[in-house]
Amino acid sequence: MARINKSQLARQLRGNLELLQMGGVNELPIKRKHRAAPAAAHKSPPRAGHPTPQARPAAAAKVGTPVIVPSAALEELKAFDSAQARALEPLAEQVRTCAACKLCSTRTQTVFGTGDPRSPLLIVGEAPGGDEDARGIPFVGRAGKLLTDIIEKGMKYRREQVYIANVLKCRPPGNRNPDPEEIEACRGYLAKQIEILNPKVILAVGLFPAQWLTGRKEAIGKLRGQVFDVDGRKVIATYHPAYVLRNYTVETRKKVHDDVLLAVGILGPGPLVK
Ligand code: URA
Repeated sequence: MARINKSQLARQLRGNLELLQMGGVNELPIKRKHRAAPAAAHKSPPRAGHPTPQARPAAAAKVGTPVIVPSAALEELKAFDSAQARALEPLAEQVRTCAACKLCSTRTQTVFGTGDPRSPLLIVGEAPGGDEDARGIPFVGRAGKLLTDIIEKGMKYRREQVYIANVLKCRPPGNRNPDPEEIEACRGYLAKQIEILNPKVILAVGLFPAQWLTGRKEAIGKLRGQVFDVDGRKVIATYHPAYVLRNYTVETRKKVHDDVLLAVGILGPGPLVK
């Protein structure tokens, strides 16, 4: 794992203490912080199983020579002044250097997540595609443009006020489906993201995130259209934007619209993060 310096360590420690404080632990050696607005760097793009009770980082068995380059997500997190951002940093650093599955040697870079870590809404996609692999940011290609429209026009939220991540942090070559071993190798990262972000609602876009988050091995057509209670959070599944682009019918779009309105019904109108 990459070495971290004293000030990074202090920032991470502070993030973890703040999260404990937010969880009701009071006798901690830190002052209560007010929520700060995200840094101005956070504009709309350019820049998105079943949670295990104890989130485990992925196993460190080496399966290839990992491509290790700077992480766009780490830079973004450092610009936020929030406990969640500070607590996510060491995880993003672990992901940046991950060699837990064979995708580590074919990636251009890892794609950890994007958005406001204080958001009560987490959107989970499947895996980075070519555009995301090139830029290190989830949902920035054609499907990402549609997802942004769904968030902004359908839900009436701002994309940068939602946190967006994927089941896999590295691109499967040729955008093939994730392998079960890849999903397992990456499971601890998403589980830990969920634990730190602590969202009220998780919107799963596509089959793999829907099955991961609900723990049900059913078709997406069966999983969508309902609200699941998972570990005290609401999980809603819908079709993946890439599927919607391939099946651009009024019927499909209406189903997605109905699904996202279930989330809005729980979260209320925007802004999501004040
Ligand atoms: N599709 C996904 O599921 N995730 C991305 O980040 C991009 C496309």
